[in-house]
Amino acid sequence: MKISKKILELLHEQIGIEANASNYYLYVSSWCKVSGYDGAAAFFKNHSTEEREHMMKIIQYLNDLKIDTIIPQIQKPAQKMKSLEQACKTSLENERKVSKAIDRIINTAQNENDHRTNFFLEWFVHEQIEEEDLFESILQKFEVIGRDKLAIHEIDKILEKLSHKSS
Ligand SMILES: [Fe+2]
Ligand SMILES: [Fe+2]
Repeated sequence: MKISKKILELLHEQIGIEANASNYYLYVSSWCKVSGYDGAAAFFKNHSTEEREHMMKIIQYLNDLKIDTIIPQIQKPAQKMKSLEQACKTSLENERKVSKAIDRIINTAQNENDHRTNFFLEWFVHEQIEEEDLFESILQKFEVIGRDKLAIHEIDKILEKLSHKSS
């Protein structure tokens, strides 16, 4: 096998992390839609698709190395969203956890001189910087525009625009 058992284990875990992220964003999108935030619903739906693509990238990487992948079970997201701001906060927290998970695989790959995996994960490092930036800037909007109904409506429109960008 072209990668170590440990790296394989971590990459399998990462497939699960990306799948769970996709599932979580799908739940948030559905909650937004039902709550009347159409822009946010579109934004999170696209984000769910992106996370699935991240999962697919890892599967593709392993398959290119002729390694069979384990497709994990996905978790049921906690169904307790209370506000759009909370959804964005939780998203940022989750993205930070994902960044840490990626860092961990990179550290292991570097310790093992696994340049192949290290190089492969570089894309994810850039992606995580973007994702954290994105949610940080969305959260800032609540500080700048506010949290009353009109402000939330404005933020929903901003998310609508962002959803066109990422798709
Ligand atoms: Fe991801
Ligand atoms: Fe993400």
